Amino acid sequence: MIKDLADYLNYLNSRGRLRKVSGAVSPELEITAYTDRADRERPYDSKALLFQNVEGYDIPVATNLFGSVSSLNELFENTYAREMLSNLNAIKTQRMRPSIIKGGKMLMDAKPKLVEPQLSRYRKLGSLDELPILKVWPKDAGKFITLPLVITESPKDGTPNIGIYRMQVFDSLTTGMHWQAQKGGAIHAKEAIDAKKNLNVSVVVGTDPINIVSAVAPLPVGFNEFSFSGIVRGAKTVLMKNGKYPAVPANAEIIINGHVDPNEKRVEGPFGDHTGYYSIPEEYPVFHVDAIYAKKNPVYAASVVGYPWHEDAAIGQFLFDFLKPLIKSMNESIVDIYLPPEGIFTNMCFVSIKKRFPGEAKKVMFSLLGLGQLSFTKMMVVFDDDINIRNIRNVIWALATRVEPQRDVQIITNATADSLDHTTNVPALGSKMLIDATRKTKEEGYTREWPETIALPDELVKSVEKKWQNL
Ligand SMILES: Cc1cc2nc3c(=O)[nH]c(=O)nc-3n(C[C@H](O)[C@H](O)[C@H](O)COP(=O)(O)O)c2cc1C
Repeated sequence: MIKDLADYLNYLNSRGRLRKVSGAVSPELEITAYTDRADRERPYDSKALLFQNVEGYDIPVATNLFGSVSSLNELFENTYAREMLSNLNAIKTQRMRPSIIKGGKMLMDAKPKLVEPQLSRYRKLGSLDELPILKVWPKDAGKFITLPLVITESPKDGTPNIGIYRMQVFDSLTTGMHWQAQKGGAIHAKEAIDAKKNLNVSVVVGTDPINIVSAVAPLPVGFNEFSFSGIVRGAKTVLMKNGKYPAVPANAEIIINGHVDPNEKRVEGPFGDHTGYYSIPEEYPVFHVDAIYAKKNPVYAASVVGYPWHEDAAIGQFLFDFLKPLIKSMNESIVDIYLPPEGIFTNMCFVSIKKRFPGEAKKVMFSLLGLGQLSFTKMMVVFDDDINIRNIRNVIWALATRVEPQRDVQIITNATADSLDHTTNVPALGSKMLIDATRKTKEEGYTREWPETIALPDELVKSVEKKWQNL
């Protein structure tokens, strides 16, 4: 089991997936340039970087912790969570394997373990100026904390939420809080407005990798991400609580306690985002720092995103594939579902189905558009199961040969949208394009005979293949 961030860095190092940069580097743009270089070299299998000598700071910076899908797969492999997800059918048909039963028990008992605060292991910092916070891209509005675990508790019922929301540094004790309207933190802030209270917030920069990835996972609001990380890890997440602030992982590198007055807003951005564009400056809540603690020898964790691909593509791809069985279990006709990273995850979704009845492609699209963060999807296309939706040539061929635009393209207006989508007239509200790229049947009103696709008999292909080798 990986104990903390330092342990994870050792793990990556032992597998040749960590590059240590010992020369002096600037936290302004230079760390971005190194990280961008690493990502361009090996998309999806990029090395993590540890900058040991960051100019002006005594704290090293780690980026690209999740640049490699292999690392993510290893972290989550052989876990009860994966076993349970990939065996949902067995659960449906009651053919339980012992590991599934054990996983089920863990799910019932996944509540994190609370221990006494161990603040003696930490030193108190005076301000954010002591942290090596990056300025990521040239036209960013300033320095941004880019991989913070933002922990809030519902003012209504105390349920915790953990999300990663970037934080723009306004001054040494104030930042922005970029939680999008639909995210857990923003929902807690709304509840705080109703309760006429400030929202106490704990921010953690650097913890064990499973906690970090769990904070990104699109779990339903109300599902405790630290319980999820416990299930994945196979051992409860250990938390410690410091006074009135939400509990934080006991293996946190850096802890920032503070509060948000949910009525206070300030312009946030621009920030070079994972869309490949600078975000349009918008008003977001303000976070006030009350106290900062850092481990004796902490590592500052940061993420660099921008024009695809960067580590967000690897995290997104991995998490989506990990949680895919859950989506498929609710839509049995789905064969595969894929969010191409160039589609910025939220802007494009390809689905392949084994169509069983008329209109099923639309049924699947409506179902997915109502599901958590998939509701952000701007363009969704449903294909037949003979199309490999991860192969762009196959995708374009099907779009070109199975779509009659007037009949098969639907536009839905005034729907919830990703607030990062700068194309909408107003933030977070836009239209959707649904494309049914399946073959049309008589029951669906197609009066002609849908033509067969061209293929040679399998046996002939195999026999020629053998002969071909001897030519
Ligand atoms: C590097 C990185 C940065 C992110 N920045 C933001 C952000 O600034 N605002 C936001 O709302 N979501 C951001 N996200 C996505 C959220 O963390 C993700 O949607 C998560 O599921 C939110 O958790 P929640 O549903 O509990 O709110 C980011 C994800 C990553 C990997």
